[in-house]
Parts: sequence; structure tokens; C-alpha cells
Amino acid sequence: MKRTLRIWDLPTRLFHWLLVVCITGAVICVNIGGYWMQWHAYFGYAVLSLVLFRVLWGFIGAIHSRFITFIPSPQRLIAFLTGKEGGGFGHSPLGSLSVIALLLVLGIQAGTGLFTDDDIAFQGPLAKYVSNATVSLLGSIHALNSNILFGLIGLHLLAIAYYQWVKRESIVMPMIQGDKEVDVEREGSGLPAVALLASKDGAAQRLTALLSLCVIALLLLYALGIISF
Ligand code: HEM
Ligand code: HEM
Repeated sequence: MKRTLRIWDLPTRLFHWLLVVCITGAVICVNIGGYWMQWHAYFGYAVLSLVLFRVLWGFIGAIHSRFITFIPSPQRLIAFLTGKEGGGFGHSPLGSLSVIALLLVLGIQAGTGLFTDDDIAFQGPLAKYVSNATVSLLGSIHALNSNILFGLIGLHLLAIAYYQWVKRESIVMPMIQGDKEVDVEREGSGLPAVALLASKDGAAQRLTALLSLCVIALLLLYALGIISF
């Protein structure tokens, strides 16, 4: 039986597309360099705020955005890979692993950036608090980790292309407008009833998300000494 359900709430969708814009902005700016390093940092702070928000939303967000719904146990991963259980309506057990890897690698990228120095005119806001050796070490991790990030983004795009054009399942539209047509028997087989519900996406959730993101961003900028109250 096919049904159309709200899977991705607006906060998760906005998180995703803002993340894409900010990473693209950070990468363009670092390649131009000079004055634009300042904008590289601004995009980086935005990425860090978004990742911290997404971690919080993984606990308090709508059902399909919660870690508990999509992070698989080893048994569930095996059951999915051997076809004994469906992939669920949101991230599949395999897709979940790439989501976690992306969030982790993005956190490391933005976190190490705060201590990095370009040896010309730009310094991350926390570089002055650590030794030169630490700045150099975290700078090397920042450079190395960016390659891991680009690799993961490449895999992410390949997986999406595979779903869209080989499996002919539309997963991009749900990330844009929220609803997904799901096959309850096939994708939901073996899953607990709670994993088969629609995501709540009302005004209260959206307002909570907006306030949470604003508080996280302001606290981060305050902790980095970029703004003061
Ligand atoms: C900088 C590039 C990108 C990054 C870092 C990225 C990152 C992510 C992350 C972290 C998620 C998990 C969303 C969540 O649960 O919060 C996700 C999901 C998703 N992304 Fe991206 N994304 C990128 C580009 C794209 C692009 C260009 C597309 C579309 C053409 C896309 C389509 C999707 C879709 C469809 C999902 C949901 C996958 C599923 O149903 O399991 N992403 N992405
Ligand atoms: C997720 C967000 C970020 C991404 C994707 C990113 C990406 C990159 C990339 C690709 C490079 C070039 C690395 C290389 O030398 O090959 C770079 C360099 C750099 N980034 Fe970031 N970065 C991010 C966040 C930040 C933040 C928040 C800061 C500081 C506030 C920062 C500061 C720097 C500095 C100073 C360099 C120059 C390092 C050098 O010249 O050796 N980055 N970043």
C-alpha cells in the first residue's frame, strides 16, 4: 500500500540546503583567498552552528529527523542489507551511516578551522590561545579533513544519483518539499509502529527550531569573542 507522508520537517530541509550553500560559499572563498578568508570564516561559523543545531534536532526534532529513528543497530543494518527488513521511510540504515559521517567530518572541519592560520593575514579566532605547534597541527588536520569531506560529498551525490536514476525513487523532492510517497509493506516491513508515522511539521516545531538555531549561533559567536552582549 502506497501512502504520501510528511518525512522531512521544514527545519531539517532548511538545515540541509543552508548547509549546501554555506559549504559552497566557504570553499569558493578559500579559493579566492585574501579578503575573502574573512567570509570563509563566516561561512564556517554558519556551518558549525548548523551542525550543532542538527545534533540538537536529532534529539528533539520530528520523528524521522531523530537519531533514535534512523541510526541502525548492527542487527538492523544486517537485516536491511540481507533484505529481511525494509529501509524505513527516512534515511535508510546505510544512508544513516553517511549522514553521521558527514556531520562528524563537518564538525571537525569547522572546529579545526577555528584554530587555523593562513600564514598571511587571517587567523581563526581561537588560534591565539594555543601554541604555534598546535595551530600547525590543527591546520594540517583542516586541510586533510577537507579531502575526506569532499570524498563523502561525492559519495553522497553518487548515492542520490543511484536512487534517482537507477532505482527510480524520488528522494530529492522530499528533501525540497517534505512529503514522500512510501510503500508501507515494503519499506516499513519489520519496523516498529513509531517508525511508520508522519513527521510533525507545525508552527510550534518550526518556531522551536528557529529559536534553537538563533540561540546556538549567538552563543557560538559570543564564545568565539566575535560578538558581545
Ligand atoms: C555540500 C553538499 C552536501 C552536503 C554536505 C549534504 C549533506 C547532507 C546531510 C547531512 C544529509 C542528512 C540530512 C538530515 O537528516 O539532516 C543529507 C541528506 C540528503 N541530501 Fe544532501 N548534502 C549535500 C548536497 C546535496 C545535493 C546537491 C542534493 C540533491 C541533488 C542532496 C540531496 C539530499 C537528499 C535527497 C537527502 C536525503 C537522503 C535520504 O533520503 O536519506 N544533497 N545531505
Ligand atoms: C565546514 C566549514 C569549512 C570548510 C568546508 C573549510 C574548507 C577549507 C579548505 C578546503 C581549505 C584549504 C585547505 C588546503 O590548504 O588545502 C581551508 C583552509 C583554511 N580554513 Fe577552512 N573550512 C571551513 C571552516 C573554517 C573556519 C570556521 C575557519 C576559521 C574561522 C577556517 C579557516 C581556514 C584557514 C585560516 C585556512 C587556510 C589554511 C592555510 O592556508 O594553510 N575554515 N578551509
